[in-house]
Amino acid sequence: MMPAPILEAIHRRRSIREYTEEQVGSEQLRAIIEAGSWAPSGLNNQPWRFVVVRDPAIRAALAGQTTYGHIVKGAPAVIAVYLDREAMYHETKDQQAAGACLQNMLLAAEALDLGAVWLGQILQNKTAVNGILGLSDRYELAAVVAVGHPRHRRQQSTRKPLSELILKEL
Ligand SMILES: Cc1cc2nc3c(=O)[nH]c(=O)nc-3n(C[C@H](O)[C@H](O)[C@H](O)COP(=O)(O)O)c2cc1C
Repeated sequence: MMPAPILEAIHRRRSIREYTEEQVGSEQLRAIIEAGSWAPSGLNNQPWRFVVVRDPAIRAALAGQTTYGHIVKGAPAVIAVYLDREAMYHETKDQQAAGACLQNMLLAAEALDLGAVWLGQILQNKTAVNGILGLSDRYELAAVVAVGHPRHRRQQSTRKPLSELILKEL
């Protein structure tokens, strides 16, 4: 049986943190956001909202809010993924939906031959991030995704064996 493309993408995807100078097209960014928007959500409430930042000055300001600022500065674009408090109905489930949205976005970037990384450390300064992006506390930062053309694909990762992960098979 041929391996399904989605399974191949899941295994092939790596966090990409170094990018070339080449810009990412608006259509590609929109395709990544659209893939995010097709994630499942409780009651199909679709609580996610997005801010696309290409502007180097704004990216520099965002970079100042995380120890991973070099990634934010080096990426041609970043997408801040938010939860809209007015669309939320259950804290845990809405956070889970944001996670599904983010993973869809990473897989979409992989499918488009782009590189992306989920940046969570910046959440330590999420109030300052809202200030930089001109958003009220109605919007809660879930993560920032940096996107670009990979400078290389040498990135490797490992996973625990299933024998450590599966607690029981009953
Ligand atoms: C919730 C979350 C937060 C993360 N935060 C960061 C981050 O702030 N900076 C970073 O470089 N990578 C971050 N990552 C990426 C992880 O380091 C990466 O997914 C992990 O090391 C596995 O590598 P892989 O994505 O290449 O498989 C984050 C991933 C997740 C899911």
